[in-house]
Amino acid sequence: MSFIVAIDGPAGSGKGTVTKLVAEKLGFITIDTGAMYRCVTVEALNKNIKPTEDEKIEEMMNKISIEMKNQDGNQKVFLNGKDVTKEIRTSNIDKNVSAFSALPIVRNKITPMQREMGQNENVIMEGRDIGTVVFPNANVKIYLDASDEEIAKRRYKQNIERGMKVTYKQVLEDIKRRNEYDLHREIAPLKQAEDAIYIDSTNLTIDEVVEKIIGIIKEKAN
Ligand code: DC
Repeated sequence: MSFIVAIDGPAGSGKGTVTKLVAEKLGFITIDTGAMYRCVTVEALNKNIKPTEDEKIEEMMNKISIEMKNQDGNQKVFLNGKDVTKEIRTSNIDKNVSAFSALPIVRNKITPMQREMGQNENVIMEGRDIGTVVFPNANVKIYLDASDEEIAKRRYKQNIERGMKVTYKQVLEDIKRRNEYDLHREIAPLKQAEDAIYIDSTNLTIDEVVEKIIGIIKEKAN
């Protein structure tokens, strides 16, 4: 038996941080599904494949191997056996990932991989379509939201801490563009599931969001 928590929401809503903390406290495993679409993007860019090149993408998807491993409490991501944990977070991948993640050929391959990863595990899976498409029967569904400006503020701070050279304006524009794209794509768009609990994190601290989610999970588990 597995207990599945789905956390969906826009880029920068705090899903990643919150998921990690909730999982640590409850002993669940986490799966960051965005990392998988980021791997696809790294591979396509390495191979010089464009989002419009259906056949090449299909061939690439038939061969791709993506693994998530927990090492010392951190999730490491391996693409065809190579550690790409850092590489998948660069701004070049940020810019290109929406276009690749919107492709049916890509999603038809990645969605079953995610279902497989969640089998027989107590898992918190975070992404855009977990409660709507990947696990419509998840035990708990959360939709975590925040304003674009708050998201950009957090992402800007994170990028500066990582030593990246960016301006707040660039970050805000990128966040707006990416979230707009994810909300309006045809296949598996970012959408709150009807039975998801909505949390707006704009004016909440990380700890407050974590406590709220743990409360919801505990209530459902009893
Ligand atoms: O969560 P993230 O920013 O790492 O996600 C990267 C991209 O992947 C995001 O722009 C949309 C896409 N994505 C998706 O389409 N479905 C998911 N379940 C997770 C991410």
